Amino acid sequence: MTEAKAPYARGGSAEDASVEEAGLRFEVDGEIATITLARPDKRNAQTFATWSALARIGENLPEQVRVVVVNGEGPSFSAGIDLRMFTPEGVPGQGSFGSVARQDQASFDTTVERAQQGFLWLRRPEIVSIAAVQGHAIGAGFQLALACDLRIVADDVKFCMKEPALGLVPDLTGTKPLVDLVGPAKATDLCLTARVVGAEEAYRIGLAEQVVAPGELAEAVQEKAAQLLSTDRDAAAATKRLLRGAPGRTLEEQCAAERAEQGLRIRALFARGE
Ligand code: CAA
Repeated sequence: MTEAKAPYARGGSAEDASVEEAGLRFEVDGEIATITLARPDKRNAQTFATWSALARIGENLPEQVRVVVVNGEGPSFSAGIDLRMFTPEGVPGQGSFGSVARQDQASFDTTVERAQQGFLWLRRPEIVSIAAVQGHAIGAGFQLALACDLRIVADDVKFCMKEPALGLVPDLTGTKPLVDLVGPAKATDLCLTARVVGAEEAYRIGLAEQVVAPGELAEAVQEKAAQLLSTDRDAAAATKRLLRGAPGRTLEEQCAAERAEQGLRIRALFARGE
């Protein structure tokens, strides 16, 4: 059997794949960008190419964009990592977990760090990201939804952090937002049982901001995007910086951060008014 190429090996195709080849669509309409996971026949399973393409979208996001919608075509948002990664053949051109397992820790860090970059940029202060989630959001699919600032879900949503059931940990940036949203006890329950969380529970524990009928998901997301665009761009970014930084600061530090941001806002508004 020919040895599958390790992800991101020189000349490997995960990094080279176009957005379309990676199974994504990317559209920009004014201040709203939409990323669509577009392999519905495979329930939008994700590969290293998906994560690399997501990272490149983030790196090249047009400056005017303020809202990024992440959605998935078909019955499921995403069934998680492409299970071919667990086979000896792996995903053509992208290797398998077998090839990843032979990497030393430094190379492994580089591989996973690049994958994580596909998720991390969705938290940037300059944008608000919305995951529109229907059907299954399993493993990497759940983590992609968690990477977004807001989750609007269809009432058939099924979140599942399946990694521990497969002998792995969630490593696509999902553990921190999960704990921040639901607390360490509930996060432990969800991850260590790998149980499915439906819409009612997701809304109750803070995993979802809004639950709608599947047919109303796109419209609900557009409405939220319009509401988000109704506030001042710079004030929105400054407020998001404050909110994102709040859990890591004491009250005194947060008050100082509020003063610093407001000073910038007031001076900018005054300069604009002159
Ligand atoms: N990888 C590759 N192909 C997948 C897939 C996946 N994760 N999930 C579904 N597919 C494919 C199926 O093989 C099937 O393909 P064919 O038509 O060619 O046979 C097609 O998508 C449709 O799948 P189903 O018929 O199973 O669709 P369903 O709607 O009845 O069920 C599902 C949907 C419950 C999501 C089921 O497909 C499933 O359980 N998928 C696997 C989920 C999973 O274990 N994902 C890994 C999570 S862990 C992770 O992401 C992170 C990590 O490990 C590091």
